Amino acid sequence: MEFQAVLKEKALYVEGLLKKYMPKEDGYQKTIMEAMNYSLSAGGKRLRPILTLEACKIVGGNEEDVIPFAVAIEMIHTYSLIHDDLPALDNDDLRRGRKTNHIVYGEDMAILAGDALLNYAFEVMLSSSIGKTNPDKYLRAINEIAKTSGIYGMIGGQVVDVQSEDKQISKEKLDYIHNNKTAAIIIGCMRAGAIIGDATCEQLEDITKYAKNIGLSFQIVDDILDIVGDEAKLGKKVGSDIENNKSTYPSLLGLEKSKEIANSLIGEAKDSINKLSEDVKFLNGLAEYIIDREY
Ligand code: IPE
Ligand code: IPE
Ligand code: MG
Ligand code: MG
Ligand code: MG
Repeated sequence: MEFQAVLKEKALYVEGLLKKYMPKEDGYQKTIMEAMNYSLSAGGKRLRPILTLEACKIVGGNEEDVIPFAVAIEMIHTYSLIHDDLPALDNDDLRRGRKTNHIVYGEDMAILAGDALLNYAFEVMLSSSIGKTNPDKYLRAINEIAKTSGIYGMIGGQVVDVQSEDKQISKEKLDYIHNNKTAAIIIGCMRAGAIIGDATCEQLEDITKYAKNIGLSFQIVDDILDIVGDEAKLGKKVGSDIENNKSTYPSLLGLEKSKEIANSLIGEAKDSINKLSEDVKFLNGLAEYIIDREY
């Protein structure tokens, strides 16, 4: 099967998993469930859950064990997008081809829906880990996700991203932003999958390198697509970064140099996983897809 078809099949599989875990829209508070499910079911590439499942599988683990974690990471990612789009942050009105959460549900509900998705993600991971005969690895996996989505990861990166608007910043600071706001949870979701799959230290190290490289490359390409991309394909507005006077790879280094760096990171990502297993075809394909993608 062509890589694109495999990717689509995996995304559809994740869609099915997400549906099973979405909260029921019931009770006095049901608006919050509706707002959560609105953004969760809006589509999206589902790359992070796919990576969680793949990291578990590639080290010889059982994919089934990691399903609640794959779902939870997509909830965390979706919360970050709802909040990222708020007027106080990037102020965007289009996401995953739909009106952003705050446009539909109002800022109050969008803030709460983000909070709720984050909390629910931990509920999903923890409740599935209770009663396991070997709870330690599940706790380690949850810890990876907590750390990489928090102040030493995604939120840290978002803070500096917002504080760097309208400013000229160094390449080092830009790398801090990109490595944290985007690469961190890509690292966290793959490490969680690998840990639950009983990865060796060496395997975990290789997976971490891969995730770090595709993670940074992914955000560089996101910055590039914000300039040269097609709104209909991306499902989000282009030109958002220029409008917000963001520091991005193209704003600092130009489009050509940014593409060059994104490419070379993908080369490094592939190098780091080649000895991991006989079957790294999908992860190699995914690395290439990250730089070739149009959405
Ligand atoms: C968007 O992530 C936010 C970034 C970190 C660049 P994705 O491009 O993975 O968004 P979806 O999940 O496919 O909508
Ligand atoms: C988002 O970065 C990173 C997050 C942690 C949400 P961007 O602000 O560039 O993401 P898009 O372009 O809005 O998807
Ligand atoms: Mg942003
Ligand atoms: Mg944004
Ligand atoms: Mg962007």
